[in-house]
Amino acid sequence: MLVYIFSLVIALVGLFYGLTLLPHENAPRVIDLLFWGSLLIWSSRISIQLPFFASISHSFVIHLASVVLFPAWIPPILAAVFRYKKLDEFNPWYKDLFNRLQFGLSAGLSALAWHLLSALSLGGIASLIPMIGASLVYFIANVSLVVYAIHLSSNVAIRKIWATNVSWLSASYLLLAPIALFLASAYTKPLVGDWGGFTVLVFMVLLYFSRFYWDEKVKLEDSFNATIDTLVQALDAKDTFTRLHSERVSAISVDLAKAKGLDEADRRKIAYGARIHDIGKVGIPDDVLLKPVRLTSQEFELIKSHTTRGVEILKPAARYFKEVLPIVLYHHERWDGRGYPEGRAGDAIPLWARIVCIADAYEAMTAGRSYSSPKSPERAMQELEDLAGDQFDPELVKLFKEIWLQDPIWKDREVFLRSYTSPVPLSELPSLSRSESASVTSKELS
Ligand SMILES: [Fe+2]
Ligand SMILES: [Fe+2]
Repeated sequence: MLVYIFSLVIALVGLFYGLTLLPHENAPRVIDLLFWGSLLIWSSRISIQLPFFASISHSFVIHLASVVLFPAWIPPILAAVFRYKKLDEFNPWYKDLFNRLQFGLSAGLSALAWHLLSALSLGGIASLIPMIGASLVYFIANVSLVVYAIHLSSNVAIRKIWATNVSWLSASYLLLAPIALFLASAYTKPLVGDWGGFTVLVFMVLLYFSRFYWDEKVKLEDSFNATIDTLVQALDAKDTFTRLHSERVSAISVDLAKAKGLDEADRRKIAYGARIHDIGKVGIPDDVLLKPVRLTSQEFELIKSHTTRGVEILKPAARYFKEVLPIVLYHHERWDGRGYPEGRAGDAIPLWARIVCIADAYEAMTAGRSYSSPKSPERAMQELEDLAGDQFDPELVKLFKEIWLQDPIWKDREVFLRSYTSPVPLSELPSLSRSESASVTSKELS
């Protein structure tokens, strides 16, 4: 990791030197630098919440605006120097240094793209190309540098981290790029008074207050997530053998739901439901739940009651969990009607429960139990296929196989656990909300 950071230092110095060689107009005024620097320090402390659960730091917008406003060698300095985050156990010096370097490099490369593309002097709609190019370069540099850092610290394949976390974020970057362009042009052509800074400030203040609305929404969601975390941890504390079982079931379920064509909102609810699908087990005595040998039929009946117990436990908050209760209740139903608790068959089992059922079976087989050793991913996949049409919805098993063949991060349990507890914080990346716990952006990371 330190070698990586050291090579970033060299890359940044080299890039900076290269940028000073680009032709540029007058040197920037100190007042402009201080103004944008102060905005950066302010913005490094807050982030804009976007719809679709992403958040993006204001810094990105300011970095891009500085790319438009200043000679190419300025943005990397602004990005690397003007940020403030207190050093503490969540932000140790090497993380802080890494983030300064990656921001400096992203802003520098973006400035390079801007200046090269602007030199083409494109007119009409094509005049947007330099901005789009600069945003894309910033995005690619920012994400690549962070993803590689996670790869180094967790050993998880780069492609997997990319696919799980960030592949869809480029749209957010491109959507925000026009704001940067607007800020830059507002600064050079003042709308209020004769100093462009006023217009920028008015806009930033509006942006700042608009975020309160989103903040409330996010806080509400956070407290809901925290409630689910508490429930899941209560279960994990009881049965450490199946650590992160619910998280992996959730990750698999979300992917399967996506393959089935369910929309983002439904997938989020399925993620909640999958995380608490076994919550009824907190009511099962330890000596039965953790029994290292095969259960007697009486004990098995007790275990089976975790489905109905789960619904009982969630009853006081049924209003909030209403839509995911079927997952808790029906995730052990079988396609052929020989499951429990009601013996429903086929389409009479709610779709979400059928999805979680397959995810649950795959995770349990590959994790092993105190009385049976874990199966290889290939073996578990084979068993799902063998039982398609008997235990599992055959259509869903087909879809499952399609995703499984793409080698998702949850396929191998060890890889999933490693990525879930990777020590490199992702806080500087626009991150998925915690409800999408399928991702590497776990709570250990944020
Ligand atoms: Fe279960
Ligand atoms: Fe389970």
